Amino acid sequence: MTEPASANPDQTLTPEHLMHHLQHVYNILRHDAAGSLPDYIPELSQANPAHFALSVTLKSGQTLQVGDCEARFTLQSLSKPFGYALALQTCGQDAVEGVVNTEPSGDGFNSIRLDEGKFRPDNPMVNAGALAISSLLLERHGAHALQQLQNLFQQILGRDLPTDARVFTSENRTAHRNRAIVHLMHNLGMVQQDPEQILRLYLQQCALQVQVQDLSRLAATLALGGKIPGQTLQALPKGVVRQVLSVMFSCGMYNSAGEWACKVGLPAKSGVSGGLMAASPGKLGIAVYSPLLNAYGHSHRGVLACQMLARRLKLHLF
Ligand code: DON
Repeated sequence: MTEPASANPDQTLTPEHLMHHLQHVYNILRHDAAGSLPDYIPELSQANPAHFALSVTLKSGQTLQVGDCEARFTLQSLSKPFGYALALQTCGQDAVEGVVNTEPSGDGFNSIRLDEGKFRPDNPMVNAGALAISSLLLERHGAHALQQLQNLFQQILGRDLPTDARVFTSENRTAHRNRAIVHLMHNLGMVQQDPEQILRLYLQQCALQVQVQDLSRLAATLALGGKIPGQTLQALPKGVVRQVLSVMFSCGMYNSAGEWACKVGLPAKSGVSGGLMAASPGKLGIAVYSPLLNAYGHSHRGVLACQMLARRLKLHLF
């Protein structure tokens, strides 16, 4: 709240001003070493805790970036909005509504609490909801489900994303909680496909690897209603993206979504690898990479950087 608002809102979104603000925020936070590396996925605890990178992609397709932009990290939960989008696009709204609600859960991302009355997980941003989406994608696309998701990334980024096999293996070996969630959901009739196949697809999408500039381009595509930045091509239908952004706004930051809505005011999603993306509708996509996490499982510096950028660039939606 102490960060001063930018004096001239009309000039804040030019590349020069954006670069100035990115650099400024980077300088303020570069020595902030608060937070901790996740250890429930052993490979993620090997990340370099000093890594810090910021990126913004504009409508024009231009990307501005600062910091350790060469660092690679896995999408983890940052993959969830895209899995959800693919399900909405290829399975239809009714089928998606049949397997997952759109209510903030107020619980952590890996909560095992299931609403046995509604027989649907609360939302597609928590693990249980993303597993329900994976089940639907398997039902619709079978063995091609992961490639369907890759096709979406291919359209936006111009290439399939590589898999970080070490992260996949590490998480697969230790995914006791997700395994329990998906088996419980299967037991309750909340997912129809084989639980191990569902978990595999989910962990595969989580292990796709990006750099911060990829993430801001993905965020910008959502910000532009599915239009690829700098192109006329629509990667996703506008109505699908509206639904995805609405759910990101209310549920993307899990049990800190309310505080995020007040302090940043943009649809966003985090990943336990330390990536964080926010979409400023009609304007730009923001991404941060910094692997030290806060108590909610969000990048500590990522949250602070987005708060500062939203304020300096006057991006809060309200
Ligand atoms: O399922 C998990 O626990 C991880 N693969 C993803 C969780 C995650 O990224 C939470 N986000 N901050």
